[in-house]
Amino acid sequence: MQTKLWKLETKRDQAIAEAAALIRKGEVVAFPTETVYGLGANGLDGMACRKIFAAKGRPADNPLILHIAEKEDMEALTKGLSPMAQALMEAFWPGPMTLIVPKSDKIPDVVTAGLDTVAVRFPSHPVARDLIRAAGCPIAAPSANKSGKPSPTTAQDVLLDMDGIIAGVLDGGACDIGVESTIIDTTGKDPVILRPGGITREMIKMAMGRVALDPGLVKKGETPKAPGMKYRHYAPTAPMLLVEGPEASLGLIRLAIMAEAHGLRTGVIALKATVDHFPKGGNFVIHNGGATLEAYAGTLFHDLRAFDSEGVDLILGEGVREDQMGLAIMNRLRKSAGHNIIWAEGGLLYHRSGAVPECLRTLVMEGMPER
Ligand code: TXA
Ligand code: MG
Repeated sequence: MQTKLWKLETKRDQAIAEAAALIRKGEVVAFPTETVYGLGANGLDGMACRKIFAAKGRPADNPLILHIAEKEDMEALTKGLSPMAQALMEAFWPGPMTLIVPKSDKIPDVVTAGLDTVAVRFPSHPVARDLIRAAGCPIAAPSANKSGKPSPTTAQDVLLDMDGIIAGVLDGGACDIGVESTIIDTTGKDPVILRPGGITREMIKMAMGRVALDPGLVKKGETPKAPGMKYRHYAPTAPMLLVEGPEASLGLIRLAIMAEAHGLRTGVIALKATVDHFPKGGNFVIHNGGATLEAYAGTLFHDLRAFDSEGVDLILGEGVREDQMGLAIMNRLRKSAGHNIIWAEGGLLYHRSGAVPECLRTLVMEGMPER
């Protein structure tokens, strides 16, 4: 299949109309949202949605998000909204928030993977909204990557995974937020975050007075309630270590120097303050994540993908504090690193979980101190 790439600087409306017509015909088209690019198909057409699963190589037990273009479009998709769901819609839509609500009977089972709930999102990106309006149906869309890879945040990153596999890509430039939407389960007493994202825990607490985190996100042995959260995800090809703790910055630099001394071409993804302290002239491949958590989130997936073509042997990532956007960033980074985690504190490095390359083991203490 020839994959069409629509640039939107000129003939924007015509491009969106063409993409919408393909969606109405049952084809799959990728489009930008404010979080990441989505892989869209008619959300009420089971056959079309099956094509999404095939294109991604996505397990059939992992349900899709339905994207709408007006708050009112929610009504037809649900058996009924709790006052909590309505308050969240008022507070945060359009925007990077997905709500889990009881599903209506007209949604095909393939979309919800047989669950009795459905995930719905009203994106704020103007291209996404115009596409959904023009298609005239809710658009089912997961992130537009092959299953297991980092989500794409540019049209070029979409093509790396999907060229020749889908009907087309609407190129709306780089996504603003860079990590996927916050998923909130509204079917219980309190709002429960199933996946942290652009709408932070603090923002939800502020608006609703209460918020919980799915235990499956934080406790070992608990199964996450969002089926997709249990899979290995966002994984670059080279092995990756995540450095966490109060001295993550310094610890990461020490590990990088050691890895380089052993001849490893080392990829680094870190905040600006850490990058500024790196020794000059080494054989490092450094991606500067910027000075703020928002900047770090914005380029995270693109940087992780870049390592695949930069031929690095090892990737070192810098952990951040888990408040505000830090919660979403750490959720993605830990998965990217396959939970290979080093803790830096008190001038020492500790092995927290996962694997450590042989050559770095002399630097790393076994066993964590009591705290
Ligand atoms: O920002 C986003 O949300 C992006 C853009 C394209 O909108 N989409 C996205 O979709 O990240 P995807 O498919 O990559 O992630 C959807 C997540 C999966 O973890 C899935 O298991 C979960 O939502 N999910 C979908 N329906 C659910 C349901 N009924 N109950 C619980 N989790 C659900
Ligand atoms: Mg995804």
